[in-house]
Amino acid sequence: MSIEIINDDCARVIPMLPKVHLTITSPPYNLNKTASGGGSSKRSYEGWYPDDLPESEYQEQQKSVISSLRERTEGSVFYNHRIRYAWHSRNKYRTANKIYHPLQWMSDFPIWCEIIWHRGGTTGHANGRFRLADERIYQIGKPHVFTDYGWTTVWSITPTRNEGHVCSFPEDLVERCILSSSNEGDTILDPYMGSGTVGVVAKRLGRKFIGIEREKSYCELAQRRIFSNQTPCLTVAEQPHDH
Ligand SMILES: C[S@@+](CC[C@H](N)C(=O)[O-])C[C@H]1O[C@@H](n2cnc3c(N)ncnc32)[C@H](O)[C@@H]1O
Repeated sequence: MSIEIINDDCARVIPMLPKVHLTITSPPYNLNKTASGGGSSKRSYEGWYPDDLPESEYQEQQKSVISSLRERTEGSVFYNHRIRYAWHSRNKYRTANKIYHPLQWMSDFPIWCEIIWHRGGTTGHANGRFRLADERIYQIGKPHVFTDYGWTTVWSITPTRNEGHVCSFPEDLVERCILSSSNEGDTILDPYMGSGTVGVVAKRLGRKFIGIEREKSYCELAQRRIFSNQTPCLTVAEQPHDH
């Protein structure tokens, strides 16, 4: 089954890709983690990828990436994001007492379904607010196929850690997206691949995979996870694909 890992900026590469059947992704959340916290919290974010844009620039960038993903994806784009409060990031660009909701930049896209990912009560208290225990998964555009497993729009799935990446997807979450909305042999894209969880599950379920990731060390990690140390296939996209 074809698996391709591309070490590059997804904004540059997506327009050069062949058509895929399904996209599943979780972008950086613009949390400015390297600057957040102090003491042990700061240490735990050492090595975090750059995640620190002025919020308006971030939202425009995400809109543009989603638009190009929709052009390249035959079925749905599953796009994972979350509500952010100003407290959360201590981001110097944000003002206090403000909520940032993904629908602020996604409301013009044809959202087919909104899924609440109930992660459990694992986050810290939100500085006088109730603890945040959910993320959102937006299924943008109608799936090209749909298999009904009886799942509702609330998915209670415990987050995974310690894959060598600070925020890897749980495999169960990816499995639901793939099983419900693709066929065996389809191509699945993750433009913000991270540790490659979408690739791991796609391969296990007999799907092809294209992963894009800007950080070389994460590409290498994904490659190890997907191939169990076999068949290096890291590429940097320079030419449009012709398949
Ligand atoms: C939220 S993480 C994705 C984690 C992934 N779902 C997993 O299971 O490991 C976002 C990833 O996007 C990468 N990234 C950020 N900006 C990027 C860009 N412009 N192009 C490609 N990758 C990017 C980051 O390095 C990070 O690994």
